Amino acid sequence: MTIKSDSPKLVDGMGRTIVNLRISVTDRCNFRCTYCMPADNVEFMDRSNLLSFEEILRVVTVASGLGINRIRLTGGEPLMRKDLPTLIKMINGVEGINDVALTTNAFFLKDQAQSLMDAGLKRLNVSLDALDPEKFRDVNRRDCLQAVLDGLDTARKVGFKSIKINAVAVRNFSENEIMGLIEYGRSDGFEVRFIEFMPLDSDKVWEREKVLFGHEIIDLIKEKYELVPVDNSLEIGPASEYTFADGKGKIGIITAVSNPFCDHCNRIRMTADGKLRTCLFSTDETNLKEMIRSGESDANIAETIRQAVLIKEPGHKINLDDFERPDRAMHAIGG
Ligand code: GTP
Ligand code: 5AD
Ligand code: SF4
Repeated sequence: MTIKSDSPKLVDGMGRTIVNLRISVTDRCNFRCTYCMPADNVEFMDRSNLLSFEEILRVVTVASGLGINRIRLTGGEPLMRKDLPTLIKMINGVEGINDVALTTNAFFLKDQAQSLMDAGLKRLNVSLDALDPEKFRDVNRRDCLQAVLDGLDTARKVGFKSIKINAVAVRNFSENEIMGLIEYGRSDGFEVRFIEFMPLDSDKVWEREKVLFGHEIIDLIKEKYELVPVDNSLEIGPASEYTFADGKGKIGIITAVSNPFCDHCNRIRMTADGKLRTCLFSTDETNLKEMIRSGESDANIAETIRQAVLIKEPGHKINLDDFERPDRAMHAIGG
């Protein structure tokens, strides 16, 4: 059934305007974070199923005609995709796109920061859950904290102005890392954000009891620092942000479990194999790759995106009895 839509923009059935497209460029990753991937025996997509840069550009161009103006590239680990700066340059040239950002584990950042900057990348979000090398190894299943810190350092030195650190908040793991991450962020100019652990791990070990809640994190930080909430931060992204009353730095909490922000959602996603997902937790996908490879017109692709958005999920159901996990784990969705 085709639902009639007169809106020139991407507006869903609940009146939310979609301006943000997250594009996964690979499901591969050199880390095996416990909250995301299994330790071994991962089955990755066949490379022939990955959208080429030209195919990604086609989707971005069509989407920008529908009002999408922000693109975030994700993975797996997006820096494992060869020549990523070339794609960034291509996307930056699309009329209407005014923000191209990247979410990375930073392992390859030391080598690539300069070329990413040269390609016009504006913003970087880096996953870093622990500053203790052993805890880093436990959660990421790789012994390479120093490479990540070097990557962050290089990114700052080549001139990235907006760098955020994402730390997944897991009960009985993250508590002792919070203040260290906060001090690191304040001294080096990174916005640290704590993300409540979501049921998207391949190992399927998620339980509510394993989530360290945002309000608990805020309480912990308040023992040392006075925090000032930033007005309306949820209207832009998933983080509730706070500045430090002493004027030095900013933090965020992403309370996907304890206080979902779905009412403010302004995003859709495309997987590396060209499937459009209207929610992080979607159980249905729209196959844009097939449309592109079978020669469909831009107008038809645009209309398909619009129709998918019209029936975008009102929100995730983590807190409801009928919650269903998506078939894909985080590394294959793109976060
Ligand atoms: P900014 O543009 O800097 O705000 O980026 P971002 O926070 O949207 O992107 P990032 O890739 O850094 O994501 C941070 C965390 O927020 C990840 O764990 C994402 O999975 C989570 N996140 C992003 N979008 C959504 C969403 O629509 N729903 C939920 N539940 N979580 C999301
Ligand atoms: N719950 C919350 N955040 C997660 N991420 C990966 N898996 C999960 C999960 N199960 C985060 C990573 C990365 C971002 C894209 O998603 O830390 O920063
Ligand atoms: Fe890789 Fe990111 Fe998943 Fe960690 S969270 S395994 S860095 S895709």
